This record gives sequence, structure tokens and C-alpha cells, in this order.
Amino acid sequence: MTAASDYVLGQTERAARRLEIQDRHFAEPSEKLLDALAITPNDRVVELGCGPGSFTRRILNRLGPKGVVVGVDTSRSLLEQANTSLEQLAGERFKPVLADVSKPGEWIEGADVVLGRAVLHHVPMAEFLLGRLRAILQPGTRIGFLEPDFRRPLANIAYLESTGRPELAPLLMFSKAINDLYSAWRISPAVGASLAPALEEAGYSNVRHAWHPFATDESVLENMSMIYDEVRDSFASLGIMSFAEIAEQQELLRALKVGDLPPVWGLHQVTAEV
Ligand SMILES: C[S@@+](CC[C@H](N)C(=O)[O-])C[C@H]1O[C@@H](n2cnc3c(N)ncnc32)[C@H](O)[C@@H]1O
Repeated sequence: MTAASDYVLGQTERAARRLEIQDRHFAEPSEKLLDALAITPNDRVVELGCGPGSFTRRILNRLGPKGVVVGVDTSRSLLEQANTSLEQLAGERFKPVLADVSKPGEWIEGADVVLGRAVLHHVPMAEFLLGRLRAILQPGTRIGFLEPDFRRPLANIAYLESTGRPELAPLLMFSKAINDLYSAWRISPAVGASLAPALEEAGYSNVRHAWHPFATDESVLENMSMIYDEVRDSFASLGIMSFAEIAEQQELLRALKVGDLPPVWGLHQVTAEV
């Protein structure tokens, strides 16, 4: 494990706890992705950007004693947290690899399945990786991703905000701030929306797509507020939002009444075969 990480969000234990909360509202799409990939007990699964391992746990639950998950991540700290929390469940079946997924190495060899949850949008020009994967993976390898979309729901929210729901403005502000942050880092915040056509265009077969919007409930609002905490220094140094503006937006998020809020983001589920 040698590479350093420049992951744009947090890598602390608190950040890992946030990813656990996020795992709860990603639960249904996560299981649907694994269903669509038809994971079998002996599969060798390469998970791109496994982070602290909450999606890995779901994969391991589908594997038998001979199945393996190779978890690849650039964050040493998140990988260590994954290793610790999966130790009991996984035994020897979890192989952590500290590496940049945009440069596939030996770790990809022999994969039956290559998948990732909420990782491609952190990779600059993620389409380069998708094309390179098709070149090196064996025919028949299944691939699958869940990728967030921070923009698709915004036209609806802006419409509602303009027609008598001004209290929804903090949902728009959060989405704008995240888009601004990811653009400043030159990563791929919009890759989810174009993922299925991009895979088709690159010659993958059996490309399937589903869209999973999230109800904006307490845990989604809590996640948004925790993201503000995680990236407040970056927001301030990049001139996206000052500390005072972040505190104000967190207050406005807390004041929202759950039950009648439109989705503010969702996940694209895309599967295909090499
Ligand atoms: C939003 S987190 C998702 C973690 C996990 N997949 C989950 O769903 O809980 C994104 C993860 O991708 C990792 N990551 C980002 N860019 C990466 C890259 N180029 N190579 C490997 N890992 C990367 C981060 O370190 C982080 O663990």
C-alpha cells in the first residue's frame, strides 16, 4: 500500500460513519445492483473505491467461502477502516489494495465482476477508465456502477421554489456547492447520467440502466449537513461558501419539514458486460 490520496471528501472515522449512514439510504439500489450483476458464490469481485467497506459488506454477504472481494482505494485510512470492520465477516476473502483505480494494475486480473458505488464521479474524465477497462477485461466480465446525480432533480426543485416553495432554496444551494466543488477538482460529477450511453458507445453489451431518486428524509438531510462539515475548509478556500454561509445553510436544512420534500439527488444504476 503506497499511493497517497487526494480524495476530495473526508477520510476520518467521522467521514467513515457518514458513509455508513449513506449506506442506509443506498441500501435498496445497492442490493438491486448486486441482483442485476447476478453475483455467484465463487466470484472474484473487484470493487473500485471501496472506502470504509459498507458496500463491500453487502458483496461479501453474497459470496461463499471461495469468493473474493478485491477492494481498491486511494485512501489508506479508509482502507484500514474497511479491513478492521470486515475482518470477522471476510476472513481471507477481502483483499485491500491501495491504488488509483484510474490506472488499472495487477489487482484487476482474473475479475469476474468489476463494480463500484459512488466512485466514478470522483475520477477525472471517468470515461477514459471505462474504455480502458473494456480493453483489459476478459470477454464476459460483468461490470456495474451506482453513481449519484446531483443535477437531474434540480429543475423540479427550482420549479417548486419558483411556485410557492421558497424554503427549498437550501436544497438548490447544497447541490450548487457540491457541483462547484467537484468542478473545481476537475472530477466527473455528471458521469452517472451519461454512463449507460457511454458504455454502449464503447462497445459494452447488455447495457442496462435504472434511476433511483431518494426521498429527502432525515438521513439524507443529515448526510448533507455532514458533507458541509467535511468540506467546509475546501468550500471556504475555493470561495464556494464562507463558514458563516455554511452555518446558515445547515440551519436552513435543519428547519425543513420532512415528509413533503422533493428528491434532491439519486443514483444511476448501470450494468453491462465486456
Ligand atoms: C463517496 S466514497 C464511496 C465509498 C464506497 N464505495 C461506498 O459506497 O461507501 C468514494 C471512495 O472512492 C475513493 N476514490 C476516489 N477516487 C479514487 C481513485 N482515483 N482511485 C481509488 N479510489 C478512489 C475514495 O477514497 C472513497 O473511498
